[in-house]
Order: sequence, then structure tokens, then C-alpha cells
Amino acid sequence: MAERRVAASPETVKKLAGLGHTIVVETGAGAAADLPDSVFTAAGARIAPDEAAALGEADLVLKVQRPLTQAEGGPDELALMKRGAILVSTLAPFQNREQVRAYAAAGVTAFAMELMPRISRAQSMDVLSSQSNLAGYRAVLEAAVEFGRGFPMMMTAAGTIAPARVFIMGVGVAGLQAIATARRLGAVVSATDVRPATKEQVESLGGKFVWVDDEESRQAQTAGGYAKEMSDAYKQKQAALIAETIAKQDIVITTALIPGRPAPVLVSEDMVKSMKPGSVIVDLAVEAGGNCPLSRPDEVVNAYGVKIIGRRNMPSRIPVDASALYAKNLWNFLSPHFAKESKALEFNWEDETVQGTLLTRDGKVVHPQLQEGGN
Ligand code: NAI
Repeated sequence: MAERRVAASPETVKKLAGLGHTIVVETGAGAAADLPDSVFTAAGARIAPDEAAALGEADLVLKVQRPLTQAEGGPDELALMKRGAILVSTLAPFQNREQVRAYAAAGVTAFAMELMPRISRAQSMDVLSSQSNLAGYRAVLEAAVEFGRGFPMMMTAAGTIAPARVFIMGVGVAGLQAIATARRLGAVVSATDVRPATKEQVESLGGKFVWVDDEESRQAQTAGGYAKEMSDAYKQKQAALIAETIAKQDIVITTALIPGRPAPVLVSEDMVKSMKPGSVIVDLAVEAGGNCPLSRPDEVVNAYGVKIIGRRNMPSRIPVDASALYAKNLWNFLSPHFAKESKALEFNWEDETVQGTLLTRDGKVVHPQLQEGGN
């Protein structure tokens, strides 16, 4: 599916224009997010007729996704940018190392927003959080549409409808919003995560936390927020509990990711087989390899009577809110770096948010994890 989000909103265009900068928006960039060119013009932007005109003169390029290459069917967007331009976008740098080298060679200063350090000051710049939250919400709706039954309990003259049972696996930002959304729709919700600290969060949203409650897990929980390696015996007990739980669910939404690694398998083929016909799985980790080995990117797979939804880029399916929050994240990242007097963009290179996201500068790849031999 083509990207529906856009990297600027009328609000951020106004703010940037208010600093005296010339803002150019490629025609149609916001159309799929209900932002026609006229809205950007009213906010103070100029509309460029195509990519070449939009990119050619830009000192700062704000994008949602990395520049497309010719091999991907469009013009080579990087080649359209001028030397010395600054690129701020999500760039999937670890999956596209060659392209990162190309940014350096093209003299482009590239920032990958998904590498924003997770410090409290940077929460307002955190695109992973703003987009995952919406992905978690949308995942529940996708499941509800594919599900042949309702979510809430309904007592009608013709009989009572039982509430749907929804199980969320992985309670990060997306998982928490999925719990809240499923609860709002009236489902009976349970959830699990390897981080014991999530138990309280699940319970505070009205969900049931699924874990083996024994001496070992209680100690792990008091040990702090991070997952701790558990004994093999514990892992077996937990796996059995998860398998038993999945067999009873109507909807399973998986959101488990491990930064920089393939997603862990949480719902095996046997577990899918154990579910009732008509059950639905949404695999939000499909782009990272999937939490279920049967999910396929951008397909709804029917396996053993279970529908497995593997939509990529879930935030793009709620493009209006996703764009507004993404655009605001970019503004929050950039705004401290406009010089007080001249309003020129002068990065403080020592800033943790700059150092964490900066990939290339002065013709070199500078991010420590992308240096030769880095991992
Ligand atoms: P994520 O998208 O990387 O992973 C989703 C969840 O999957 C995580 O909770 C993770 O523990 C879980 N998971 C991984 N392997 C699993 C397995 N085998 N079984 C079950 N669950 C598994 O995580 P996300 O949403 O990016 O956030 C993770 C944490 O970071 C949260 O606690 C969040 O509150 C915190 N955070 C802090 C921010 C800040 O301070 N700036 C910003 C955003 C998040």
C-alpha cells in the first residue's frame, strides 16, 4: 500500500513559516491524509508540481519514509536532493545500510527519527511511540472488521451475545493502546509481556495479566523494569500457560518486537490450529518477520479457519492523526535548533537527540551502530 501519511501538517508549516523559512510542499503530498494542497497554501506553504521541484532547492527535507530509489519505481529521490541538504525522516537504516552510505556520498546530513533515544525529554519527538499508539488502536479495529461476531456483550430480545475474548501479546506502546481500545469496545481482555513491569499497566487498563505467578516471577518483577533471563522450568510453565490461553481466545493481537532483531515467534502453527474457527490474529510485527510464522505481509491468511492479518504500515491506515503527530514529532525535534536571532537551523551536535538520530554528516557515516564493523 502506498504511504498515506505526510510529514508536515498545517500547524507545523505555520510554525516553520513563522520563523521566516520558505516552505515547499509537493503537490498531493497530504491528499491521502485529508490535507489538500489548499490547506498547506493557507498555512503559508508554496506547492511544488513534482518531486524534483520540491526537493531540488530544499535545505531541509522532511519525509515519512526513506527516499525512494530508481529500483523502487520512482525517480531517484536522493539524486534530486542538493549537496548539504538535511534529511529528517524514518530511514530504516539497519535494513538499508547501502542507502545510508549513499546519503553520506551525496553530502546529505541524514537523521533517522526511529533512533530517537528513549529519554523523557525526547518523548515528544518519539515517532515510534506516536505511530505505535495509533497502530495498536487500528489493529483492534482491523480485527473487529474481520471477526464475524461483535466485541461487547449484548443482551437482546433474541438472545445474549457473549463478549469477545481478546489477548494482547507484547505490552509496549502499541499493546497498551490495543488493550484500551479492545476494552472500550467491550471485549474481555488479557495480555502478556516478558517485562514484568507491564503487569501493573495491563491491570490498570482493566486487562488480566497472563503469567505464571510463582516465587521466581515475583522476584523478577521486583528486580526492575527490564526482562530478566528466567529458568528453563519457568519458561516451560509460561509457554504452557500461553498455549492454553491462546486456545480460548477469539482475537490475538501480537506486537512483540526486539529492537534490531527479528521479531520473536509467539504464536506457533500448533497454537493457530488450537484456536476456534473464525478467530482472528493481527500480527503487528509482520514487517520484522512476524510474531506468527503463518502471517504474510499485506495479506489476510486463512489458516485452519483462523484469519491472520499481516498488514504492513498500520499507522498509514489512520493517516490523518498519524500525520499530525508525526509532523509534530519532527517539529519538536527541530525547534530547539533554530538560532535565536537568525532563525537558521544550527544543530547542537552535542545534543543527545541529535547524536542518537544522526546517521551521516560531512560525507561520512557517523552513527556508531552503522560504522564498519558496527552491529
Ligand atoms: P517494542 O515495540 O520494542 O516491543 C513491544 C513489546 O513487546 C515490549 O513491551 C516488549 O517487552 C515486548 N516483547 C518482546 N519480546 C516479547 C516476547 N517474547 N513475549 C512477549 N512480549 C515481548 O516496545 P515499545 O512499544 O517501543 O516500548 C517499550 C518500552 O519503552 C515501554 O515500556 C515504553 O513505555 C517505553 N518507552 C519509553 C519512551 C521514553 O521514555 N521516551 C518512549 C516510548 C516507549
